[in-house]
Amino acid sequence: MGLNVAVLANLKQNAPRYEGMPADAWDDLDSPITVQAICAALEASGHRATFLEGNLSLVETLPKLKPDICFNICEGHWGDSRESHVPALLEMMRIPYTGSGVLTLALTLDKPMTKRVLAFHGLPTPPFQVFERVDEPLDEDLTFPLFVKPSREGTGMGVSGSSIVHSEAELRDRLAEQLAHYRQPILVERFIRGREVTIGVIGNLSGPAARRVPRDEAADRVQAGLRFLPALEVDFSKYPPSEGGVYTNRMKTEWAHDFHRFCPAPLSPALLARLHWLTAAVFRVTGCVDVARVDFRLDAEEGDRPYILEVNPLPGLYPGLSDLVLEAEAMGMSYNELINAIFHTACVRHRLV
Ligand SMILES: Nc1ncnc2c1ncn2[C@@H]1O[C@H](COP(=O)(O)OP(=O)(O)OP(=O)(O)O)[C@@H](O)[C@H]1O
Ligand SMILES: [Mg+2]
Repeated sequence: MGLNVAVLANLKQNAPRYEGMPADAWDDLDSPITVQAICAALEASGHRATFLEGNLSLVETLPKLKPDICFNICEGHWGDSRESHVPALLEMMRIPYTGSGVLTLALTLDKPMTKRVLAFHGLPTPPFQVFERVDEPLDEDLTFPLFVKPSREGTGMGVSGSSIVHSEAELRDRLAEQLAHYRQPILVERFIRGREVTIGVIGNLSGPAARRVPRDEAADRVQAGLRFLPALEVDFSKYPPSEGGVYTNRMKTEWAHDFHRFCPAPLSPALLARLHWLTAAVFRVTGCVDVARVDFRLDAEEGDRPYILEVNPLPGLYPGLSDLVLEAEAMGMSYNELINAIFHTACVRHRLV
């Protein structure tokens, strides 16, 4: 039997405007094309789908609609934990929703906090330091080149070829600029030179996933319940040197319609197995459910050793363009099948099917 589904998103066109708003202010919000495609996919499976803007109006619109479940892709508007706001409202209203919960969405929006959790579990993430002021001394163990990015943004906001800094002077210039623009702590990491791979996953862990990596190499690595999509590698050879061999905001917005990638990425079976294992471990330790995408760099100087950059529990779902959608296509999974796979996983978790 079909369910009554509310599709919750924050559309870029509905976003608040304010004085002195930067041009990239709402680059992580969604397009009506994505929302319409999600609604159409759910309707094609016999559900009723209604879009609702994910803001405080939900307090009135949801009790009227009385959905069985919400398909949530809200990125939120304000504050340090904005992606967790709508899920928090839904929990207060006791309405089930797809995807990760309040704690996970608040955690993973904050890259340094996520890295602390990964480091606690021995998962490889580039060494880092967080700057709240431009003149804080640089830790001695961080050596140039370094990579400078905002702590709590997505869609490559603040990421360009100039994010790579080679000297104290470049670091201080970039920090000054990023602190002023994004008004949040700025994350400085060791620059990982090498290939870039992202791995999408759908499902929920049903078996134990050993958490200690690599200290406990021999432990059972059970990833039951998770379905990995083919790894996607960015083909940097097709982009100008100005982009610095990183996946920039420009590539994710202006140039998104002409995205160059290898999918499935040409990876050895052993490396792919390790990336799957790391993806499952990140999914587990950050408390993800239903769907996520984990971004990696493979360090060329260490024989393609994988480093975890971040986990995205709300991966973009723009039809034909977003990484997760391209990964699904590469395994012959259509957009409708992808949306319904995520939805079905959530329905099973909530015991709605
Ligand atoms: N330490 C690093 N070393 C090398 N490149 C990096 C590093 N950190 C980030 N990058 C580059 O910057 C890009 C964006 O970084 P990151 O994935 O952390 O940000 P994001 O804006 O949240 O991405 P998304 O669009 O996936 O939400 C990465 O895909 C990678 O190309
Ligand atoms: Mg990323």
